[in-house]
Amino acid sequence: MLVEPPKCLRKPLFVPNKLLMGPGPSNCPPRVLQAMSQQTLGHLHTETTYIMDEIKEGIKYIFQTRNTLTLCVSAAGHAAIEAVMCNLLEPGDVVLIAVNGIWGDRASDMAERYGAIVRQIRTGPGNNFTLNQIEEGLIKYNPVLFFIVQGESSTGCYQPLEGLGICVIGVDTVASLGSVPVKMDEWSIDAIYTGSQKCLSAPPGITPMSFSKKAENKIFTRKTPVKVYYLDMKVLGDYWYCFGKPRIYHHTVSATLVYGLREALAIFCEEGIDNSIRRHQMCANKLYEGLDRLGMQLFIRDASKRLPTVTTIEVPDFLNWKDVVEYAMKTYYFEISGGLGPTTGKVFRIGLMGYNATSDNVDYTLKVLEESLNHARSKFKVSKL
Ligand code: GLV
Repeated sequence: MLVEPPKCLRKPLFVPNKLLMGPGPSNCPPRVLQAMSQQTLGHLHTETTYIMDEIKEGIKYIFQTRNTLTLCVSAAGHAAIEAVMCNLLEPGDVVLIAVNGIWGDRASDMAERYGAIVRQIRTGPGNNFTLNQIEEGLIKYNPVLFFIVQGESSTGCYQPLEGLGICVIGVDTVASLGSVPVKMDEWSIDAIYTGSQKCLSAPPGITPMSFSKKAENKIFTRKTPVKVYYLDMKVLGDYWYCFGKPRIYHHTVSATLVYGLREALAIFCEEGIDNSIRRHQMCANKLYEGLDRLGMQLFIRDASKRLPTVTTIEVPDFLNWKDVVEYAMKTYYFEISGGLGPTTGKVFRIGLMGYNATSDNVDYTLKVLEESLNHARSKFKVSKL
């Protein structure tokens, strides 16, 4: 044998039970885990496609849309950004992207790779855009697509979306859906997606999306083929039975992830959108109060700009943020996250998402954070002696 069976695979699988209080993924509820422990089925078996149809109904509810082109891509949220860009843009098209954190920049990178001319409106991390700023950008650049993120997980910033609807609009709700209102049809959003692993508390790897009729027409009247077969909505839409035509084999969906997402959507629907929003906002407020008692400073001072799911907290002087994060993980198997993109090294990020957004978890988070901060402070002092 050129390569022998590796010794590491002779040991039993090890997966610790961690509490994921970072910006996602969140822990899956037992019902989702149980659903995923069921036997795999074929990707075109009637039972699988029946569950896929149930998922489509659930997705229409979470996005508040009647769009027929509503489905999942079999990949993490990043693939949904790619799908928006590669389906709605052709080489030479102008796309306007609102950038106030890592996701706008990443979307710009992707759009450029599909040959689009990328224009940006930018504001600082922790800030969001006013309608005026957006309108000015739209008038200046006259884009075929405007892309904006509702919940910037790198900074913890919330972007209101009401009142847009001038050109084709793509919206990222990965980190926000379930904690703030999302009304795709009412707000005239043309392409939307969310993360399965955030407030829905399903595993990552299957990403809900929806496209409006306007977006669908755009896709069907393209002059050039979509560059990525795997993400081409014309063919993927046929697999998900979005156009009323017989299903075709497009790819082998993970039946296991389909079961998990189906149960996660069922749990979300049982609670209801409004209750979910209330629960997330209640937990976030309780967290803000607790952080204030600990003397911590929130990165986003203006409460109206805070995303309930991701709270960014300034790293105090005289400690190393990594000591805090590592202590919590080593001592408690507890995830607190550091910053990302423009907030790297500047903030801690605490997530309150889906199954994990409970009052008890907020109490526990504050306890672990306080102890971890004390540990990091004492370590910093010793290192300076
Ligand atoms: C991922 O979404 C992150 O914000 O870390």
